[in-house]
Amino acid sequence: MTVTQTFMDDQAVIERVLSHVRNGTTDLGDEVWREPVDHYRSEERFHREIALLRRLPVPFCPSAALREPGAYIARVAAGVPILAVRGEDGTVRAFRNACRHRGAEVASGTGCARTFVCPYHGWTYGLDGRLERVQHEGGFPDLDKASHGLVPVRAQDRSGIVFVTQDASANDPDPGEGLSDLIAPDQDLIDTHDNEADFNWKVSLEGSIEGYHIRFGHRETFYPYGYDNVNVVEHSGRNSRVTFPFRRIEKLANVPAAERQIEGRVTYVYHLFPNALVTVLSHHTILVVLEPIAPGRTRNIAYSLAHTGGDPAAAEIAKRDAKFVTDTGAPEDRALAESIQRTMNSEANEFFTFGHFESAIVHFHRHLQAALEESGGGGAGG
Ligand code: FES
Ligand SMILES: [Fe+2]
Repeated sequence: MTVTQTFMDDQAVIERVLSHVRNGTTDLGDEVWREPVDHYRSEERFHREIALLRRLPVPFCPSAALREPGAYIARVAAGVPILAVRGEDGTVRAFRNACRHRGAEVASGTGCARTFVCPYHGWTYGLDGRLERVQHEGGFPDLDKASHGLVPVRAQDRSGIVFVTQDASANDPDPGEGLSDLIAPDQDLIDTHDNEADFNWKVSLEGSIEGYHIRFGHRETFYPYGYDNVNVVEHSGRNSRVTFPFRRIEKLANVPAAERQIEGRVTYVYHLFPNALVTVLSHHTILVVLEPIAPGRTRNIAYSLAHTGGDPAAAEIAKRDAKFVTDTGAPEDRALAESIQRTMNSEANEFFTFGHFESAIVHFHRHLQAALEESGGGGAGG
């Protein structure tokens, strides 16, 4: 078994950023990548990606969103209705959210339940998925209730994130490998955002893992606090981390290395292959899941979490920061992503080119390509 490399510690990141600032450099990748534009608009490619998203462990929600026994989230993941719930025993489980009678979804949205009662004819399931009750059971004389529970899918609670694997196989790698505690157990969910927009999920992802666009793309919002193209880019297995430093990190140059505090000096953006991002800011952390709806449409589900320690003032600061990000930088990224998607039918580009500064994107495409090839060249699964 290969041991996955983990990310650098904060001190090493600070040292590396300060050296880049001093020397006018930034982290460079080893390859320029050309990605066919067709991969962002073809139905065939889209279906292969969806099949892959069903086969891999994919972040579904933060564990903190399912804090209490009975807490659940129901939503569509890779085109399939999925229900994740914390059981009475404290274990998070996930199921295909389909009643075993005639297929209605047994839960919708989020909430806390003691059982799931199908809204159609009332078949009732336990938090562990077992079929507990059938109304007027005499109408189904031969029904084997034991084999008509909700159909489970693999759920793994790792690094503060619930990963769901719809089509799991025995030798899948552990999704938490190399991640440590990305979201700490005491972080509380303070906000959830859910919206759809007209771009391919990969365009949105790409815009989140490079700092080459900060000066032009976020001139009035992030650039005044950040840098033009200064980043640290690291990889761990198929995942990456891109560090976006704030200018105030330069104050640390005169602080002894052992006393340097990174909080408030950088934003860490973790890309969890294939379609999730964890952004660690000064007072809060955001888990974003990019849910492909169609080649040119993506649902963006964002969970904001904060270290509040039950302190309402801390929660307010975190919410204020979260609002700044969602009101300023996020709409700029979204407008750019939509503009990219619009140009795809112009035939201006046959390929998009990712250079040495955009190496986390290159890493992503390299692994996406390999994973799609591994799972067969055809449109299986669709
Ligand atoms: S479809 Fe669920 S009880 Fe009939
Ligand atoms: Fe951006």
